[in-house]
Amino acid sequence: MILVTGSAKRKKLGSEIIKALVLDKKESVLIHYNNSKQDAIDLKNYLLDKIDEELKNKHSIQIGTIQIGTIHGDFSNRKSISAFCDEILKRGYKLSGIINNVGCFLQGSILDTKIDDIYKTFETNIFSPMIIINKLQKVLKDGSFIINMGIAGLESKISVKSAIYFMTKQNLLFLTKSLAKELVSKNISVNMISLGYLENSKILPTTKSFSKIIENRTASFNDITSTVMYLMENRYITGQNIEIAGGVNL
Ligand SMILES: NC(=O)c1ccc[n+]([C@@H]2O[C@H](COP(=O)([O-])OP(=O)(O)OC[C@H]3O[C@@H](n4cnc5c(N)ncnc54)[C@H](OP(=O)(O)O)[C@@H]3O)[C@@H](O)[C@H]2O)c1
Repeated sequence: MILVTGSAKRKKLGSEIIKALVLDKKESVLIHYNNSKQDAIDLKNYLLDKIDEELKNKHSIQIGTIQIGTIHGDFSNRKSISAFCDEILKRGYKLSGIINNVGCFLQGSILDTKIDDIYKTFETNIFSPMIIINKLQKVLKDGSFIINMGIAGLESKISVKSAIYFMTKQNLLFLTKSLAKELVSKNISVNMISLGYLENSKILPTTKSFSKIIENRTASFNDITSTVMYLMENRYITGQNIEIAGGVNL
């Protein structure tokens, strides 16, 4: 079973990753939600209908047992992140992958940001993936993979306008590389996928910033999900930060 955090909401990256894992790769998945409970149920039902349809149309093909679970978790404080992990352990799931997709975007310079917002962003973006991996490592199977979601420019840029958000993702990159070294002995790969402008980004490029994307377009969901599949199937790649950003800021 593959856990994808923040994967319930319709037409967002997390739910698109879930769809690709189930429908293209026939993987079992655990859909995590915080506020989007109904979306999680709808996504689960949509996938079950699709699998049913496939089974009906291809009588002779064995699709196997695909498990689709949903789980709630609020990652904005340590207690509730731990409770989320404990629930996974209680249910007895064995994981073959973790995709830390939850990311709380925060605009504003360090000097202009409220202290509570700084803490919440760090809790959600860096403490939650760290605690999740720490607590769930015992149910990660040999040969599993971990993917963390980053943002383009982490290794070359300083962002003043969204400094706290950027700092959390830089920490996440450090976590990625450090865990890649530590978990290689368990045959677990750890990588980061860093996005620029996604097709549904909260901040879409202005005409001026469009000129900074050499591909001259935003990323499609498929640009990202295909890379997730690639990393899932190529465990020799580890400790890497792959930018899928159309060459932004080159
Ligand atoms: N979209 C972009 O253009 C872009 C660009 C660069 C990087 N990224 C990164 O790519 C990832 C996905 O981006 P996105 O825009 O699809 O993300 P998003 O919509 O902002 O967030 C995905 C989900 O995260 C969950 N979430 C947020 N705060 C949470 C919390 N405190 N506790 C638990 N869950 C929480 C929400 O679940 P509920 O709906 O259930 O509450 C939300 O639907 C993020 O890590 C983001 O930083 C995105």
